[in-house]
Amino acid sequence: MILLSPSFLFFLTLVQFVTSSPTDNGAPLTIPLRRRERPAGTFIDVAKMADNMRTKYGYQPVLDTTLQRRQKVSGVSIQDEGPDVSYFAAIQVGTPHTGSSDLWVASTACQRGCQGSPLYDFQSSSTFKDGGTTVQVQYGSGSVIGELGSETISLGGFTVQNQGFIVAQAVSEGLVDAGSSGLIGLGFQTLAETGATPAVQALAQSNQLASPEMAFFLARNIDNPNVNSVNPGGTFTLGGTNSSLFTGSVQFIDIPNDITPSFWFIPVDAVSIGGNTINVSQQESGAAIDTGTTLIGVPSDILNEVCSQIPNSQNGTGSLAGFCVIPCSSSINSAMTFGGKSWPINPADFSIQQPGNNNQIVCVTAMFDLTPNTGPTPGAPPQKRQNNIPNPAFIVGDAFLKNVYSVFRFSPPSVGFAQLGSNGGGSDSSSTPL
Ligand SMILES: *[C@@H]1O[C@H](CO)[C@@H](O)[C@H](O)[C@H]1NC(C)=O
Ligand SMILES: *[C@@H]1O[C@H](CO)[C@@H](O)[C@H](O)[C@H]1NC(C)=O
Ligand SMILES: *[C@@H]1O[C@H](CO)[C@@H](O)[C@H](O)[C@H]1NC(C)=O
Repeated sequence: MILLSPSFLFFLTLVQFVTSSPTDNGAPLTIPLRRRERPAGTFIDVAKMADNMRTKYGYQPVLDTTLQRRQKVSGVSIQDEGPDVSYFAAIQVGTPHTGSSDLWVASTACQRGCQGSPLYDFQSSSTFKDGGTTVQVQYGSGSVIGELGSETISLGGFTVQNQGFIVAQAVSEGLVDAGSSGLIGLGFQTLAETGATPAVQALAQSNQLASPEMAFFLARNIDNPNVNSVNPGGTFTLGGTNSSLFTGSVQFIDIPNDITPSFWFIPVDAVSIGGNTINVSQQESGAAIDTGTTLIGVPSDILNEVCSQIPNSQNGTGSLAGFCVIPCSSSINSAMTFGGKSWPINPADFSIQQPGNNNQIVCVTAMFDLTPNTGPTPGAPPQKRQNNIPNPAFIVGDAFLKNVYSVFRFSPPSVGFAQLGSNGGGSDSSSTPL
């Protein structure tokens, strides 16, 4: 039996469980999220993050170094991501991942990368079954290799029997933080390298949840000058929503029924910058909504239009190719429209500081071009996926998701947004829908 308890965490990096026992059967399980702040005076590496997002979703990376790393990954051993790992660990928002579907757990068989994690001892579990094959899962920021197995999994009071998962044998450094033991993917089965139905999808399908959904409030710390090394990062709710965190109703946008549910994939209607609306054509409207990513990846023509709406902006060059470089003094009102409703993005989330030349600080937009006309394969389209899984034209990460209460519903498959309430940091005017 694997339990989710404070000493045994399945959720990515910095998630911690304070309460894990719902009082009533089927009552929603609320889990506080934590996130690590970067040390003062350091910057997030947007170029590397953008490449991680590109790689995760089948787009070509732009930086040569990332290409080299990927080639190394395709062997059996897991490469060491090198000096930028601690950097990533330091800024990554530790949330359960809506952009992947596998569950893996650091085990006593782990040879590499599990130091500091509580380990799962499969040999002393009577319910463990060995699946007999080796599986590798590639995330944007690293990978995991292990043996397929099945086990009885408990999430608070919820239980899934025979859950397929990976008994990790090697984990890329920095993929999870010391103290965490693995990662639970919250996407759909079609994405799972193990082929297993993801645990939360299984709970939803077996009607164990009061409501077949999960919800996130992601806290904003970017504008908090008094950051500690670990901050409250928000709240994850499984099996329902937490009405104290949002106001009004949740507006759901269905995953189009002509595509196989895989990512949480919904159409985006428009992007607004400074009051000007840029309509998105239907062909390039598919957006993956991913709590496990930070920035917002967009098609080239959208990034160009966004950039052209911002006074004194420039196309980024070098490692900032694909980004729009803007004056750090700009306070930009932006928004994304889903299901006919426009959701504003706080200016603090839209502009990101970067080190420039001559010790100057420059700023870039949180939106970047997924297929910039640069790098080893300029403008290359994403690789085709199997199983009729579409490539998202947009990848919508936390720069947007911090501005809404987000709900991921399995049945009917849809993503919902609601206005944050004051408990969810929604007292600032920017979280009022336009
Ligand atoms: C809802 O969220 C609030 C604020 O995080 C928390 O105090 C409360 O316990 C949550 N309610 C439920 C029912 O989980
Ligand atoms: C954008 O779409 C809206 C709603 O469909 C429409 O009213 C508007 O005219 C469109 N704008 C442009 C520039 O095409
Ligand atoms: C940025 O690049 C786009 C596409 O190549 C181009 O149309 C635009 O004029 C460039 N903007 C600036 C400010 O150079």
